[in-house]
Amino acid sequence: MGNQSMWSSLIILLSVFLCFFPSRSATEENFDYPYLWDQVPERVEDLPVKNNKIIMDPWDYRDRLSMYKLILNSSAKYFIKFGANNTGNAFWALTLFYGKLYQTERFNDPSDYLLYNSTEKNNFISIKSGWSGINYYVIIPFFLAALEKKFFGVLPYQIELLPQEDRRSDFCYSFVECYIRYPAMLTSDLKIFEYLQSREVTSNDKGNPIYNTDIETIIHYMWSGHQAGIDVGKPLFSDKSQFYSTGEKDFTRDFLNTVEFLEAANYPADFKNGSEFLMVFPHRPVTTSDYWILPGSDLNNYERVLLIGVKIISTLNSVSGGTLLAIWKKLMISPTAREAAQNLIKTIFLSPKFISLV
Ligand SMILES: *[C@@H]1O[C@H](CO)[C@@H](O)[C@H](O)[C@H]1NC(C)=O
Ligand SMILES: *[C@@H]1O[C@H](CO)[C@@H](O)[C@H](O)[C@H]1NC(C)=O
Ligand SMILES: *[C@@H]1O[C@H](CO)[C@@H](O)[C@H](O)[C@H]1NC(C)=O
Repeated sequence: MGNQSMWSSLIILLSVFLCFFPSRSATEENFDYPYLWDQVPERVEDLPVKNNKIIMDPWDYRDRLSMYKLILNSSAKYFIKFGANNTGNAFWALTLFYGKLYQTERFNDPSDYLLYNSTEKNNFISIKSGWSGINYYVIIPFFLAALEKKFFGVLPYQIELLPQEDRRSDFCYSFVECYIRYPAMLTSDLKIFEYLQSREVTSNDKGNPIYNTDIETIIHYMWSGHQAGIDVGKPLFSDKSQFYSTGEKDFTRDFLNTVEFLEAANYPADFKNGSEFLMVFPHRPVTTSDYWILPGSDLNNYERVLLIGVKIISTLNSVSGGTLLAIWKKLMISPTAREAAQNLIKTIFLSPKFISLV
């Protein structure tokens, strides 16, 4: 306990010190919605019906985007007090990240190098890409959990996911199939919807009911569900052939390991905070030389700091046999430590002054 409060004080001190480095200024902000955002349905009523069924293809970029959009739209009423126009919604971080993965060509077939230089966009998510597989387990179980909980209301037609024959055993395409194989993941993904549905209207704002939601709790359930998906996806999609390069594969592993530290700190996942963080994510898949020797000159300082930062954090944690993350998680029980940790993360990865020192 004494040890813990010492570490806690250290994080707080460090974050106070780092506060002298201001965060990125508003003028540098350039927040983009994912590609084709305005063109995909956000209501079940707008999904195409065929033979009394709604079929969604998780390997079509637009259908997967629509899943994020349906969740954002149906959960909007619980986030009214956290920002206008649903900007406070905790599902934004994952949605924006999905757009970023697409935009940075990480859903392309890694064996088809030519694709990486093509400006032509297709709407497919390659089943051969490791990022496609990992992302599958981030959003599909949330979507299936929402359907299971009737989160989109009582549907006039059943929604089914279209399975691909290729790599069939690496994926599950229905709630039951996923639940049988990964009960812990599905149980975790259900929690956020169960929590939201258990909320009550406590007041009104211009005719809109306001629910008694606690944003910290929601963010916690969102990150837990996310991590449950990563835990399933990461070991399935870690082969070198599923990535653009060995460097990109190593970066992906280290990035996902670092995300666990952000999750434990309950890092905010709203539109603005999510966009801000994603601006530092490499705008293209990295090469082995970028990651292990010298970052290419087209990678900016933020991207370089992210590459170095995730490498250091992930390596220290792995050298310590996971003790670093375990200690961090213990510290993060305290709200003050969580807040300090969020500031610390922002300063390291998002502060221009700090980055100019590196
Ligand atoms: C949800 O979708 C409906 C129908 O497209 C739209 O009118 C509404 O503005 C959306 N709500 C939010 C918060 O985006
Ligand atoms: C509200 O949010 C939607 C995205 O969900 C966006 O397309 C729209 O431009 C936003 N409207 C305003 C007024 O910011
Ligand atoms: C971003 O996160 C901070 C907490 O770290 C929170 O105070 C703020 O409201 C969040 N949202 C925006 C839009 O900045």
